[in-house]
Amino acid sequence: MKILSIVGTRPEAVKMAPVLRALNAQSWCEAPLLLTGQHRDLVDTALRQFDIVPDYDLDLMMPGQTLGALTGRAFLALEKTLNEIKPDIVLSQGDTTTVMVSSICSFYHGIPFGHVEAGLRTGDIRNPFPEELNRVITGRVADFHFAPTPASADALRRELVPEDKLFVTGNTVIDNLAYYMDRVAPSQFAAPEGKRLILMTSHRRENFGEPMRQYFAGLREVIDARPDVFLVYPVHPNPNVVSTAQELLGDHDRIQLIDPLPYFDFVAAMKAADLIVTDSGGVQEEAPFLRKPVLVLREETERPEAVSSGVARLVGLKREKVRDTVLEVLDNPDVYAAMASGASPYGDGLASNRIVQVLANYAGKTYEGEQIGPFEG
Ligand code: UD1
Ligand code: UDP
Repeated sequence: MKILSIVGTRPEAVKMAPVLRALNAQSWCEAPLLLTGQHRDLVDTALRQFDIVPDYDLDLMMPGQTLGALTGRAFLALEKTLNEIKPDIVLSQGDTTTVMVSSICSFYHGIPFGHVEAGLRTGDIRNPFPEELNRVITGRVADFHFAPTPASADALRRELVPEDKLFVTGNTVIDNLAYYMDRVAPSQFAAPEGKRLILMTSHRRENFGEPMRQYFAGLREVIDARPDVFLVYPVHPNPNVVSTAQELLGDHDRIQLIDPLPYFDFVAAMKAADLIVTDSGGVQEEAPFLRKPVLVLREETERPEAVSSGVARLVGLKREKVRDTVLEVLDNPDVYAAMASGASPYGDGLASNRIVQVLANYAGKTYEGEQIGPFEG
């Protein structure tokens, strides 16, 4: 039984690493990895940290790539490579171009497709852009829907996904974090003794331009207003992000714009942070597990669980709102404590095992490990 995992970007490397570990622990399957190379340095750095060497690499990334050009290159290269590999099952994770193309190519080849992190929806096809469309397309094609939470499974039920294709697993991002969080070295970006650290990430396409300018300006006002607060921002290499970050957040003695951090260093920075401000999907899931308050730089989220439980807040994109909310969390110990005290709604560290258990059943093989029930949320 050949189960091919396809990965393209940094978050897919982080979230598929534990699935690959779990697959490789089984004797009944082989588990090659195909890298589309939608990302280059980001994905290579992540995979290297997890000691994962891809078996195939389509090397797709071009600087400043457009969605259409990337998608076209991905279809051509993936179709050819699937013909060579002939997997029995294809797995991919999330909502990127890599995932959408992998699902359609698998469909064209008649190969069963498993979608890891299935059922995330905002309900607005243009937000996040283009990820919501990618999710909807992938959800139409998938044969196994590995929903991270009960709410994401319900979203798939509303789209009439049959129960026998639907599995609530938890999010594999927590498997990785649970495995590594106590093994990372202390962060070199920790704030000086008695000072506070905000860790920020931001890269979403729908935030390019004015929205990003607005919230960067709001964050700068926070740093100006609180002399004990430091901001560290590992800047995503997308050229649209780099230029705006330098213009609005550059040249400040308490703001550090740094290169993207290797995963272990980023986990260390999250642990050192007092507050995390982000538009990233994965970081929204990781922060609550580390009991760090997280403010989400978006108007809506497909990850409402942490917002409902009070450990995350959607702050939107406006300068004043971002500034005032960050200041409220920093200044009000009760607000801070309430946001820092919650548990993670996104997983219990066993998501990858659940996924492999399902695949073993499908293949008519015995799962080599303890049987685990669904993730209850
Ligand atoms: C992509 C995904 C997004 C995901 C994000 C995770 C799509 C459409 N977008 O967005 O869903 O949240 O990855 O980070 O699938 N670049 C580099 N080095 C890298 C990676 C990117 O230089 O290792 C630069 C290149 O100029 C590249 C550009 O960033 O052309 C955009 O990369 P792309 O994968 O198209 O979009 P992301 O913004 O990274
Ligand atoms: N991450 C990292 N280094 C960084 C920033 C983020 O390793 O400098 C990790 C983070 O821990 C999370 C993942 O990258 O697991 C999130 O990726 P990203 O924000 O690029 O994408 P998204 O989750 O929004 O799709």
